[in-house]
Amino acid sequence: MSQTRIAFIGAGNMAASLIGGLRAQGLEASQIRASDPGADTRTRIQADHGIETFEDNAQAIADADVIVLAVKPQVMKAVCQALQPHLQGDQLIVSIAAGITCASLQSWLGARPVVRCMPNTPALLRQGVSGLYATHEVSAEQRQQAEQLLSAVGTALWLEQEQQLDAVTAVSGSGPAYFFLLIEAMTAAGEKLGLPRETASQLTLHTALGAARMAVASEVDAAELRRRVTSPAGTTEAAITSFQASGFEAIVEQALQAAAKRSAELAEQLGQ
Ligand SMILES: NC(=O)c1ccc[n+]([C@@H]2O[C@H](COP(=O)([O-])OP(=O)(O)OC[C@H]3O[C@@H](n4cnc5c(N)ncnc54)[C@H](OP(=O)(O)O)[C@@H]3O)[C@@H](O)[C@H]2O)c1
Repeated sequence: MSQTRIAFIGAGNMAASLIGGLRAQGLEASQIRASDPGADTRTRIQADHGIETFEDNAQAIADADVIVLAVKPQVMKAVCQALQPHLQGDQLIVSIAAGITCASLQSWLGARPVVRCMPNTPALLRQGVSGLYATHEVSAEQRQQAEQLLSAVGTALWLEQEQQLDAVTAVSGSGPAYFFLLIEAMTAAGEKLGLPRETASQLTLHTALGAARMAVASEVDAAELRRRVTSPAGTTEAAITSFQASGFEAIVEQALQAAAKRSAELAEQLGQ
């Protein structure tokens, strides 16, 4: 990426995180540009990262190798159709917008190299995880560029089929909210067991963080980690047995299927 020039269309939360991550990886401010209709947004991103900003999207993409589409899905069609006459050569298009398919992007932009990504909210802390899918027009070098871009805000994983992005949306895109729900429920249950709310909250949060760190660092899978901390007839086993008697795995599977179905429905609507 030492020579790559990147233009961001939309300079909101996600673009700001990506730009911060790229700068932290050593990209020069002169390699990055951004456009956004908001004067305050442009001033902030310029002040925070020292990059050049534009009100006009077409100006931002001149000479860019990579164009990152970081606008809301609802405005994507209009943004792409306005950009299309200004695209040059085989500029790589990277879209981070939820639910906009490569077919839709290529129908608005022409048959160009497109990488479609699904990041998640912890990307704002550079602790995200993203699924990436590349169309066949994307070169090996462009795949690397896209991977490095998303790696600036966390872990980047390639997918072989675009449809798998609906599953990524269900697992990691919407996933932070599932953990927030569990945190809420455990905190409330701890309070009912007699703990002060703040204590129950801190115990839950640090347990979630510690468990996630253990699972990420471990060489064995989560099922084995769970077995190792579940003594026969102990307290953990009592809780796990109760979870499973209430159909915990089926509840999770149904929830993720509902999210994946909704993701496919939204893609259908937004692509029109
Ligand atoms: N945030 C996340 O955790 C997350 C996770 C996964 C995927 N995404 C995707 O990332 C994309 C950006 O999300 P975000 O959270 O960064 O949203 P955001 O903070 O609202 O940023 C979008 C920016 O685009 C600007 N914009 C609107 N119309 C534009 C146009 N015609 N040309 C250029 N810029 C324009 C907006 O300006 P105004 O505010 O003035 O309209 C805003 O500053 C979305 O498509 C979302 O689906 C986000």
